[in-house]
Amino acid sequence: MMKGIVLAGGSGTRLFPLTLATSKQLLPVYDKPMVYYPLSVLMLAGIRDILIISTPSAVPVMQELLGDGSRLGLNLSYAVQREPRGVAEALLIGAGHIGHGSSALVLGDNVFHGAGLPEVLRRCRESLDGCTLFGHPVPDPQRYGVGEVDSEGTLVSIEEKPLRPRSDKAVTGLYFYDDQAVDIARGIAPSPRGELEITDVNLEYLRQGRAKMVELGRGFAWFDCGTHDSLLAAGQYVQFAEKYEGERVACLEEIALRMGFIDAEACLRLAAGMRQSDYGRRLADIACGPA
Ligand code: TTP
Repeated sequence: MMKGIVLAGGSGTRLFPLTLATSKQLLPVYDKPMVYYPLSVLMLAGIRDILIISTPSAVPVMQELLGDGSRLGLNLSYAVQREPRGVAEALLIGAGHIGHGSSALVLGDNVFHGAGLPEVLRRCRESLDGCTLFGHPVPDPQRYGVGEVDSEGTLVSIEEKPLRPRSDKAVTGLYFYDDQAVDIARGIAPSPRGELEITDVNLEYLRQGRAKMVELGRGFAWFDCGTHDSLLAAGQYVQFAEKYEGERVACLEEIALRMGFIDAEACLRLAAGMRQSDYGRRLADIACGPA
């Protein structure tokens, strides 16, 4: 079974002073903590065994927020990343959790939303051979890691913040890996900044001709909430989708219900505990309505 990892550490320096005393991934994105969003993506991929990696000070708060996951039908565990030594370090910290199987790694500040996301993720899981990255078209690819694919969807290049981008597809913070990822991560050297770069892991798969990139294009929204403006934009997007389009973005209890991780009765109990908020009231409606 594929294992999940949410990497929710880092220093969040671009969000100072918001993140001087708290973790970025605990900040609100409209009506819920940021970490709900990446967690929802793993749940939508059908993954229930999930490791959450964060800073020494944030792990206890995450544990208070999400517990062992059993109320959502999940098995959540936690690990500390002492220093932000790079995204690929998640594969080393999570090596025991991953074991000898495949894994999905998602960054704790990434928000994905779009109709059909569960089907896309399921197909990618089933056809996984090597690694699968997810690209999203952006107007300013120079600011991102940029992926270029051939007509089959096989990655032919990844470039970090290229001056002359070969495509407009930013590589988002969701990565599906086969059982080789931990070994590959063990083999890469730190960057000049002293970080284990996830791009180096992805480049090794690319060299083996076993890296794919699936486009989450039209109809999909993607935000990384790393700056004040993108954090606000993500919150406004979620507000709009929920208030005016009847959508529910990253409502973990609803996803757990729809994925069959919990039943309606359990969902209603979770809603009852939050009935003072709009979130709880809407959840109660969902739990009572046709599932
Ligand atoms: P970044 O946004 O690149 O880094 P950051 O969160 O430390 O923020 P800033 O650049 O403003 O200082 O990280 C992307 C995501 O990956 C984010 O959710 C934090 C996480 N991360 C870690 O958990 N550990 C790490 O070592 C790194 C580099 C990132």
